[in-house]
Amino acid sequence: MTAHTTAAARAVDLTKTYGTGDTRVVALDSVTVEFAEGEFTAIMGPSGSGKSTLMHCLAGLDSASSGSVHVAGTDLTGLSDKEMTRLRRDRIGFVFQSFNLVPTLTALENITLPLDIAGRRPDREWLDSVLTRLGLLDRLGHRPGEMSGGQQQRVACARALAGRPAVVFADEPTGNLDSRSGSEVLSILRAAVDEFGQTVVIVTHDPRAAAYADRVVFLADGRTVDEMRDPTADSVLDRMKALDAPAGETA
Ligand SMILES: Nc1ncnc2c1ncn2[C@@H]1O[C@H](COP(=O)(O)OP(=O)(O)OP(=O)(O)O)[C@@H](O)[C@H]1O
Ligand SMILES: [Mg+2]
Repeated sequence: MTAHTTAAARAVDLTKTYGTGDTRVVALDSVTVEFAEGEFTAIMGPSGSGKSTLMHCLAGLDSASSGSVHVAGTDLTGLSDKEMTRLRRDRIGFVFQSFNLVPTLTALENITLPLDIAGRRPDREWLDSVLTRLGLLDRLGHRPGEMSGGQQQRVACARALAGRPAVVFADEPTGNLDSRSGSEVLSILRAAVDEFGQTVVIVTHDPRAAAYADRVVFLADGRTVDEMRDPTADSVLDRMKALDAPAGETA
């Protein structure tokens, strides 16, 4: 792995709290983390540890309570709504944990929506290869309500990849997929990094999915608690067990 020094995305001292008083939740507690350009990172951690919140803040979909976020060379803090919308549209691809497809549009219309809005033409060859590899060719005319959860998830991945954005964030992109479709999604994300130098950050609970990444960042209680390079499914599993174990029990 080449040692890149440029960060495609960076959070500095990021804190996000919800609610006040008794119901106050600290979703992110002073998180500082960098994602190098042209690298594939997996974020892991228990349910409620702040993974989705971190991804949303990094992608400019949510604002933090304090701290700063830089994406593709831009400080998100100072952006107007319009500038933020443009940055998200042109530079960032996002796969939501809940897909967020437009119910009235077909699969293909959903996939090309961000490009259509931007007035850009998709790169036909790239789009074809994404659709083929994700097994979507025979579902392009279907609306989300007419597709299975896994198919909708693959449409959401195709949409995030279609415009070849600088950074792709994917929140549990294989959460609803069988292992074969899951492998296709992960290998196409891997290809986005290896063949096009894009930066990919995913959230996953699956050590086998994390093994596709160059690096794993572990979150717990809204903090980064550990990280690992060149993960394998086994090494990730071991680390997860160690992080789960009560202090003093790790040997
Ligand atoms: N809108 C909200 N209002 C109040 N609390 C919230 C809100 N969104 C998230 N939280 C809280 O913030 C914490 C972090 O949530 P987040 O969705 O980032 O977790 P996660 O790591 O993605 O979990 P999962 O693996 O279950 O998806 C949780 O304790 C959650 O209950
Ligand atoms: Mg989540």
